[in-house]
Amino acid sequence: MQGFPIIVLNFKAYSEAVGEKGVKLAKYAEEVSREYGVSIVVAPPVTMLSRIANSVSIPVFAQHVDPHFPGSWTGSVTVEMIKEAGAAGSLVNHSEKRMILSDISIVVKRLREEKLVSLLCTDTVETTRAGAGLSPDMIAIEPPELIGTGISVSKAKPEIVIGAVDAVKKINPSVHILCGAGISTGEDVGRAIELGTEGVLLASAYVKAKDPKNILSSMAEYALKAWEKTQSSK
Ligand code: G3P
Repeated sequence: MQGFPIIVLNFKAYSEAVGEKGVKLAKYAEEVSREYGVSIVVAPPVTMLSRIANSVSIPVFAQHVDPHFPGSWTGSVTVEMIKEAGAAGSLVNHSEKRMILSDISIVVKRLREEKLVSLLCTDTVETTRAGAGLSPDMIAIEPPELIGTGISVSKAKPEIVIGAVDAVKKINPSVHILCGAGISTGEDVGRAIELGTEGVLLASAYVKAKDPKNILSSMAEYALKAWEKTQSSK
């Protein structure tokens, strides 16, 4: 990864993310990352992982990984499987794929052992605090009620973002903090970074956009501007 700020694009199970359309979405992200020098990660559906990892040079994450070692676990996706498919990391505990705390802890540890990046999703300041104690590489706070609404967490619930940033700084400052849910415009991304985050996690505004490259370019531009502003005021 090039560093921060970072934009993580979760393709979820949207039909736009499957087959050649999914590859195209990943390629636009690669182009924008190169043009603006901003870190962009794509998280395609698991069936597209290998194909997309072979098509682009930006990091590709899995959307979920199970806590099991290789063996008799029908239907499971192991850390070894996503690594072999070319993933550089994985989302963990997304609110649409919740896990119990002990499994989250195992997955974060196993990803680290395999030198893969963990991006843990949390939903409140309290769960962010608990998550930071597990030392994932990154945490994304996402209030579930705003997911897919187009109402950005950075505008609608800035206090949650600020609370999560503070919690992580106090408990484990080595964890990078992002936010997500409803992020739809460049302005939403800029605002998220001004609140103290190091990037964003988003899905529908990119995957379902009429012109995804255009919207992502605007997000990259705002991310850089806000990043420069916050870094120079430190
Ligand atoms: O993982 C990203 C996510 O849950 C937010 O979704 O569609 O509100 O950007 P969306």
